[in-house]
Amino acid sequence: MTLLLLSGTSEARRLAERLAAAKVPAWASLAGATRTPAPLPIPTRQGGFGGDEGFARFVTSHGIGAVIDATHPFAARITARTHRICSELGIPLLRLERPGWQPGPADRWTFVADESEAKRRLPPEAVVFLATGRQSLPAWSGLAVRRVHLRVIDPPAGPFPFPGGFVQARAPFDLASEIDQFRRLGVTHLVAKDSGAGDARPKLDAARALGLEVMLLRRPPVPPGLHVVPTVDEALAWIDRLPFCSGASISGA
Ligand SMILES: NC(=O)c1ccc[n+]([C@@H]2O[C@H](COP(=O)([O-])OP(=O)(O)OC[C@H]3O[C@@H](n4cnc5c(N)ncnc54)[C@H](OP(=O)(O)O)[C@@H]3O)[C@@H](O)[C@H]2O)c1
Repeated sequence: MTLLLLSGTSEARRLAERLAAAKVPAWASLAGATRTPAPLPIPTRQGGFGGDEGFARFVTSHGIGAVIDATHPFAARITARTHRICSELGIPLLRLERPGWQPGPADRWTFVADESEAKRRLPPEAVVFLATGRQSLPAWSGLAVRRVHLRVIDPPAGPFPFPGGFVQARAPFDLASEIDQFRRLGVTHLVAKDSGAGDARPKLDAARALGLEVMLLRRPPVPPGLHVVPTVDEALAWIDRLPFCSGASISGA
């Protein structure tokens, strides 16, 4: 039997490294959203499964005995679908989802439900830095502010629809480079998803250091009944308890 690790986060990468070290049979799956993803140390398939049927077919044809959904906290469709189909097929499923961020006393954060609420709240004179990803661009249509800068990993495919422009860069970022970036662009407002990722945190620290306002998009809700753990260590302990992984001692590997 084989484990399926739905990937696309740094936690998934750390899990893949532990699975490889302990020689646990496993597949990783990447959506293919990033054109040149860094390789993972276990066999990896890339691209959507082809909807519900494609996912069920992959799971049954590859002898998948358990699934870990370590996709991004905002990847709501894959999480809901995986939960539904694993329940139907009786396959053990664990969701690994890191906790969201908490503001400190010097932070100027506003949590918003979605891009529409952020658009209503951003003042017309704002210079906005969007750290919400390339795929979020359509949701920002109609944003009426002075300038917009959207950070993307891959080279942009089309023209930028606002005054401002794309900022092409790949994480990790550090505090000094984020401060420098925000200063150079004259940013007044940062908009980000409440991803909770450690390597995404420097932008929030930079915003605090510069006294910038931050709008954080709230996470989509977790489907009821889904077993969720917040840390890689807890996911490793869960893997150790799987009958087909007994003896791997991955949590101590
Ligand atoms: N949403 C974000 O902000 C964000 C940020 C960073 C990284 N990511 C990563 O990027 C991927 C796509 O995110 P999304 O928000 O577009 O997801 P989504 O809306 O939940 O899923 C859309 C479709 O993408 C495919 N998919 C998603 N994750 C997959 C995976 N790990 N392996 C194979 N297929 C996958 C599935 O297609 P089929 O129905 O064809 O199977 C799914 O129906 C996720 O894996 C996520 O971890 C997302």
